[in-house]
Amino acid sequence: MRALVVGAAAGGGLPQWNCAAPNSASFWDGAPVHPPATQSSLAVSADGERWLLINASPDLRGQILATPQLQPRTAPGKGLRNSPIGAVLLTNADLDHIAGLLTLRERQPFTIYATAGILEILAQNPVFDALDPALVPRRPIVLDEPFEPLPGLGATVYPVPGKVPLFLEGDSVVTDLVGEQTVGVALGDGRARAHYVPGCALVDDGLRQRWAGADALFFDGTLYVDDEMIQAGVGEKTGRRMGHMSVSGPDGSVAALKGVDLKRRVFVHLNNTNPLWRQGPERRAVEEAGWEIGFDGMELSL
Ligand code: MLT
Ligand code: MN
Repeated sequence: MRALVVGAAAGGGLPQWNCAAPNSASFWDGAPVHPPATQSSLAVSADGERWLLINASPDLRGQILATPQLQPRTAPGKGLRNSPIGAVLLTNADLDHIAGLLTLRERQPFTIYATAGILEILAQNPVFDALDPALVPRRPIVLDEPFEPLPGLGATVYPVPGKVPLFLEGDSVVTDLVGEQTVGVALGDGRARAHYVPGCALVDDGLRQRWAGADALFFDGTLYVDDEMIQAGVGEKTGRRMGHMSVSGPDGSVAALKGVDLKRRVFVHLNNTNPLWRQGPERRAVEEAGWEIGFDGMELSL
């Protein structure tokens, strides 16, 4: 199985269009701290030919331009319209995970897989009807029921604590909702097992047991510290308020996953304020704990 980080950044990307905080500012000043990173997406394939795109980011067109694996094949017999993207699976209905569906609207057949709760949010937004259901069926998937989004590639979605998308938040926001709104994905091809969890508010024993023994876990690395955006002076929200647990500290993901048997552990969905984009003490600490920092184009052969 191959797993390709199509976009390693959280909503906004790195740099973010309107941001002059240090990480983004380094791009505007011409001395970037890291290559640019696009918004959150992973592609997975059992055969290297047909790919499951997990989450469709607003950067999808540019991501395809940067990713040969996801480009149309030009060999004779392939036809004038084709795409290796055979299916799209959504882990929630946040804009950074659904807006890219609109990029895929050129009458190309593929299947959208998501829970009924996530599909309901698409159904409420008629703009997504730009994807003709006759060509692009929407298939509801049931929590904890294995399915095969592409031949030879198995997937199972399961609830992880999270919240409804920002654009559906009411007055009282539950940030550790467990249900169909936010899911993790287990992936397997009969030989390797991987999990993709780009948003997670809390890790409990049930999740640790699910992940134990996997070949790879791609996990929510949105913020390094919970009040990072407040400290940086760019926002008023904590990570917790956004449904993301932080990387560091006693309640953080490094601590929560210490001791869980994983061949590789990779942070993805990093916000542009995250110090992990830079070489420095935070990155060294996380790497010493066995974590890798995802980047656009990172491909794991599992
Ligand atoms: C998130 O991951 O918290 C969301 O993508 C934020 C957003 O919708 O901008
Ligand atoms: Mn996001």
